[in-house]
Amino acid sequence: MVQVTNSPLRTQELASKFAMRLSGGECIALHGDLGAGKTQFVRGLVRGLGGNERAVSSPTFVLLNVYQTPRFAVYHLDAYRVGGADEFEAIGFAELLEQGGVVVVEWADRVAELLPPNAIHIRLSAVSRMQRRIEFP
Ligand SMILES: Nc1ncnc2c1ncn2[C@@H]1O[C@H](COP(=O)(O)OP(=O)(O)O)[C@@H](O)[C@H]1O
Ligand SMILES: [Mg+2]
Repeated sequence: MVQVTNSPLRTQELASKFAMRLSGGECIALHGDLGAGKTQFVRGLVRGLGGNERAVSSPTFVLLNVYQTPRFAVYHLDAYRVGGADEFEAIGFAELLEQGGVVVVEWADRVAELLPPNAIHIRLSAVSRMQRRIEFP
């Protein structure tokens, strides 16, 4: 499915709705350039699960953020600055996938070989200053 949103709030709302389909254990691979709206999407996802979306920030420098929600934990990773897949493995990526929470990875193509085969791929791109195209299954 492809949707075009025209504000960060709309992108968050779309993600909140998408979150209803999650049951825990999924890996969500986010694709898209800087500013495409990946982190805004995660914010909406966390809110959709009943968590505190204000806690959501880009984990670019810390690599991993964990948000608790009433349903399950959301593990938010950003592969933008990782040197390679081995660095991702070193922070325990494989173990995170087995916690029963949802693992969300920004810049997922940088660690493509580590993603589980059933990862849910979501592609975001800027159409104009305020419009984002979001493609998801
Ligand atoms: N429709 C939209 N959806 C999401 N973000 C948008 C939209 N329009 C403008 N923006 C802006 O684009 C930026 C997206 O930032 P962010 O989610 O951090 O991107 P990424 O994590 O992909 O680098 C924010 O500054 C946001 O305000
Ligand atoms: Mg980001």
